[in-house]
Amino acid sequence: MDAKKAAAEKAVAEVKDGMTLGLGTGSTAYWAIQQIGERVREGLKVSAVATSQRSEQQARDLNIPIISFAEINEIDLTIDGADEIDKYRNLVKGGGGALLREKIIAYNSKRFIVVVDDSKMVEHLGKFPLPVEIVPFAFELTIRKLNALGCRPLIRKKDGKDFITDNGNLIADCHFYLIDDPETLNHQLHLIPGVVETGLFLNSKVASIYIGDSSGEVRIM
Ligand code: 5RP
Repeated sequence: MDAKKAAAEKAVAEVKDGMTLGLGTGSTAYWAIQQIGERVREGLKVSAVATSQRSEQQARDLNIPIISFAEINEIDLTIDGADEIDKYRNLVKGGGGALLREKIIAYNSKRFIVVVDDSKMVEHLGKFPLPVEIVPFAFELTIRKLNALGCRPLIRKKDGKDFITDNGNLIADCHFYLIDDPETLNHQLHLIPGVVETGLFLNSKVASIYIGDSSGEVRIM
């Protein structure tokens, strides 16, 4: 079985009747949403909010009830992927460009399960370029400030054009190569006007990490 699918399906086993769910974004979260859809088809009663327009559409296609944020105080369980995870359970997210909505939803979740294949586990964060969502206004100046923090920032492109997030912003993929102090870096990034959010998800919100391998085994960390 596909490692991502195995991790996602094991996490969905934690979903219970009556829960409000947060739906992640990306190729691993895709499998979680598919599996939730399958369980809804079999009678599971849940409602959900999504971290991207893409995931919301997938959920709607599977008849997973989508509710408005006005109707909820908190989300019971969010299942989402990650691009890198270190041994302290710090994450880099945003490879799919949904990091801002993902962070809002994770922050407002009672439980946050991260689903990955084992290639995402790393000694140190930073090999995967850190996605940082920035506003389009004066982005050239924001990029210079990011550069001054010691990275090579590149504005993400898609089909030859700037990639625009669901929130109308740009993504700067920041090549740090090695992030030895994620907490300080996250703080420094947030001090730059023009930075909306970073792809650093620090350990406090991560409840558990489900790590699938190519044999279909899933280890929980
Ligand atoms: C999207 C994300 C994804 O969770 C992350 O990029 C992992 O994606 P995948 O499951 O496709 O490897 O943060 O913004």
